[in-house]
Amino acid sequence: MKPTLSSCVCPHAGWARRAALGVLLAACALNVAQAATAAEMLATYGAQAGATPVPARGQQFFNTTQGREWQCATCHGAVPTQAGKHASTAKPISALAPAFNPERFTDPAKVEKWFRRNCNDVVGRECSAAEKADLLAWLMSIRP
Ligand code: HEC
Repeated sequence: MKPTLSSCVCPHAGWARRAALGVLLAACALNVAQAATAAEMLATYGAQAGATPVPARGQQFFNTTQGREWQCATCHGAVPTQAGKHASTAKPISALAPAFNPERFTDPAKVEKWFRRNCNDVVGRECSAAEKADLLAWLMSIRP
């Protein structure tokens, strides 16, 4: 490498490397922030609702029809500690209660996507933060 080139490129390369590292670290921090636990998600929904979640209300919501043909329980089972079965495709759905399936409620984007979709199927609208908080509080209360 020619001295002129290295004296020009190296300092910049140093900054670029440092900047790249900064971006990498920020991305890591973001990743950590995106992974979550059921307890963290419950806290978020509870705060959005501005009310204390009521597990019994979540259980009732899960196991009753809400204006449409299906209940949450139709696909997930009345006590979602085992694999459920999709009401129309019969595809197996793994247990929804987090104590029986540690992958549940660890990915906020996935949770939001399915709440949106399933609430639309069952209620004909999105669930409110209070309803999600009640549902999650009940699901978390189901222990082995
Ligand atoms: C028509 C069938 C069906 C109905 C009815 C249904 N679900 Fe689901 N649900 C699914 C499927 C399929 C998935 C995604 C596959 C999977 O994660 O196993 C899912 C995933 C979810 C998830 C994602 C959880 C996670 O962290 O992985 C939540 C939360 C959920 N459902 C809640 C509900 C609630 C609450 C109701 C009632 C309002 C409901 N579901 C009704 C089929 C259904």
